[in-house]
Amino acid sequence: MNLKEMLHFADRIVLDRTGKHLDDLQEAVLRGTVQRKTYKEIAKNFDCSESSVRKVGSELWQILSEELDEDIKKSNFRSTMERLQFSIVSNIAQKESVQINSINFCGEARQPPDTTNQNPQNQTTSNPQKTPTFHHDLSEMPKLGSFYNRTAELELLKKEILTEKAQLLTITGMIGMGKTALGIKLVEEIKHQFEYVIWRSLETCPTVAQLQNNLTEIFTEGDNQTSRLPLMKYLQNHRCLIILDDINYLFRRGELAGHYQPKSEDYRSLFKQIKERSHQSCFILIGWEYPREIAQIKHPNTPNPRLHGGRLNLARLDTASAHQIIAEQGLEPEANGSRFIDHYQGNPLWLKTVANFMVELGLTVTEVLQNQPLLFPQDLKDILQQPLAYLSEPEKQLLSLLAKENEAIALVKLLEIAPMPSADLLDILQSLCRRSWVEKTDRLYRMSPVLRQYLG
Ligand SMILES: Nc1ncnc2c1ncn2[C@@H]1O[C@H](COP(=O)(O)OP(=O)(O)OP(=O)(O)O)[C@@H](O)[C@H]1O
Ligand SMILES: [Mg+2]
Repeated sequence: MNLKEMLHFADRIVLDRTGKHLDDLQEAVLRGTVQRKTYKEIAKNFDCSESSVRKVGSELWQILSEELDEDIKKSNFRSTMERLQFSIVSNIAQKESVQINSINFCGEARQPPDTTNQNPQNQTTSNPQKTPTFHHDLSEMPKLGSFYNRTAELELLKKEILTEKAQLLTITGMIGMGKTALGIKLVEEIKHQFEYVIWRSLETCPTVAQLQNNLTEIFTEGDNQTSRLPLMKYLQNHRCLIILDDINYLFRRGELAGHYQPKSEDYRSLFKQIKERSHQSCFILIGWEYPREIAQIKHPNTPNPRLHGGRLNLARLDTASAHQIIAEQGLEPEANGSRFIDHYQGNPLWLKTVANFMVELGLTVTEVLQNQPLLFPQDLKDILQQPLAYLSEPEKQLLSLLAKENEAIALVKLLEIAPMPSADLLDILQSLCRRSWVEKTDRLYRMSPVLRQYLG
């Protein structure tokens, strides 16, 4: 990667983060850093104070470190750029060595020659590595407001994607738990490690053909090609991160979890190919439930207890973060806030909804906690109505039984009281756990207080 390409690369990252291109001083700092100049020399050349140069430098290293998820400083900027570049390019080179010169690197247009290079003619033949173009289509990715914690989940996902090179991951969880928000945060943190990053919501339930068409259109444009290749070819040629949000819309209502609608059946073979074929890309599926075949994903490495076979089931948000969320809605902090948060299962959307309702009516946490049952505003019922519509009749039957139980219940007891045959009961229970309506801890099954209240 030559100087110009490093500057271009850094400019894209700073633009993404701040909405502004590198200014003259920032560029001078990066240029000087690559040319191994001291801050003092850079300041002298730019005719400004050394302290301003240091300040700009440290801001730049911070932005680059956060965006690239690497500790970047003046001493390792150049080597990190070269390494990142190398990792992307060598992946491509291994796969498609004959195409190395036809891949659309570095920006929409070809890069002007590097004026700092001593031997520019040599450059194209001896050094075919150029900065890859980033094609990030995040037009369907929602905007992220404030975001708290989820550090452990982010670390797990990053490890799985960047180190373990997972090809297919799912993030599931109850409505409002923060799956999309987590996905956005993840994309923000790792997008620069990928040539193509595409976010699509499947809310309109596109067919596989429509989705593939849409994706390959982006790849064809990005590669400046006129004819389209099959999707798998692009996933092999490029390091791509593709997020499919709201995958629940692919599934049938009124059936157990993970059964495709007739028009979505072809997704089964798409996901199977993504999981099993050899390529260098990663798909993340986000939704209330995951396809049944995903349950069989095996990972060669020791399974992480919270990321079973590439599936992350997003649990409640921690109490301190949940406090911040309700405070943002305008609810005064109170000592008994944790009980309130626990009742609403640390679910960010449920908490926001109830907090909004309380603020509108001028209710305090203490007042709400004094009255049983706890608040259950219509807005929250409307939210829960959406995943409820997907449940099968036997699942609803079992839930209304569970809703009557104050304590978590063992399987033996459930088998005694449930009206369905035991083989069916196990399937139903598995489906409810996959859909996050029932939680299983230490061989005991329970529903959250809000869901019990809703269905009781
Ligand atoms: N960690 C977090 N910090 C702050 N706010 C959060 C966090 N997670 C989620 N939220 C907020 O909670 C709300 C619900 O989050 P989000 O839309 O990500 O949930 P979801 O699980 O994707 O829901 P759905 O199942 O409807 O798709 C949003 O307003 C979001 O900004
Ligand atoms: Mg969502």
